[in-house]
Amino acid sequence: MLGTEVLDHTKKPKPDLSLHRVCKGKNDIALQLPELKKLLEVLKRKRESCCGNDGDGEKCGPGNVFLVGTGPGDPELLTLKAVKLVQKADVLLYDRLVSNDVLEMVGPDARLLYVGKTAGYHSRTQEEIHELLLSFAEAGATVVRLKGGDPLVFGRGGEEIDFLQQQGIQVKVVPGITSASGIAAELGIPLTHRGVANSVRFLTGHSRKGGTDPLFVAENAADPDSTLLMQHGLPANTPAAAVERGTTPQQRMVFAELNDLADKVAQEELVSPTLIIIGKVVALSPLWPLSSKEASCLMEAV
Ligand SMILES: C[S@@+](CC[C@H](N)C(=O)[O-])C[C@H]1O[C@@H](n2cnc3c(N)ncnc32)[C@H](O)[C@@H]1O
Repeated sequence: MLGTEVLDHTKKPKPDLSLHRVCKGKNDIALQLPELKKLLEVLKRKRESCCGNDGDGEKCGPGNVFLVGTGPGDPELLTLKAVKLVQKADVLLYDRLVSNDVLEMVGPDARLLYVGKTAGYHSRTQEEIHELLLSFAEAGATVVRLKGGDPLVFGRGGEEIDFLQQQGIQVKVVPGITSASGIAAELGIPLTHRGVANSVRFLTGHSRKGGTDPLFVAENAADPDSTLLMQHGLPANTPAAAVERGTTPQQRMVFAELNDLADKVAQEELVSPTLIIIGKVVALSPLWPLSSKEASCLMEAV
């Protein structure tokens, strides 16, 4: 099968404090529960006064929750819908992968809450996030849940929708550019290409606690250990790229053949978030350094 593997890879996971610059201190959710209570009261009072003044039924009901994808980091990759919602939201809950540039678009009166997770460290559990979304929606707020990439690609967006819908809260989803396609575009890698790759697979490198290794679930087709990947049929010289913080000014990347990829990633000390793309299409990138001859052969094969 001709294909391209796009791996969600996290190496040396650790909280990246630089990503939290906008809200540092002020929005540390653990320190501000009393403040959250105050905020809920303000939102409720606002809603009650609207209901009292004009009896507008809509304003008296619960607010909406919007799951908004922010793309891989470059703010210009946001949809217009996402920008409008970011600017009009009352409360925004955001993840680790949402870039500062995106957070800077938030309206002046809105409240930002960091609820991010890194492997081994969760600032809020998924259940707490559900409860927060519910409380704000019940207080009548326009709640925006910001997620890196697309909210429904490895983003647990489905769980948030399920929970809120069961509680009678309407949830709308605004798609984002998933990091795989945003980063591939940045590097000039076509994820599919006639005669080179006729399918593309997105695999996560993370399993839930006690779960089966997600890479084995994918038909044993891939593993962070490139040896295993090769055992399952990929040639050792398959082109591959690893990209840290793709599409942001901090982007760093490594191109290598599959058998050298792990060493090069270690050598460059790439950290999370890093995305790995494996497949012959990688050699079609104008940035592929190894063999322009190989790339042109592939192009001729089309
Ligand atoms: C929990 S998943 C979220 C995926 C996201 N919903 C999407 O559609 O891209 C996190 C993984 O996405 C990848 N990722 C997301 N943004 C990235 C970026 N800007 N640069 C590199 N990898 C990124 C990394 O593999 C990271 O470990």
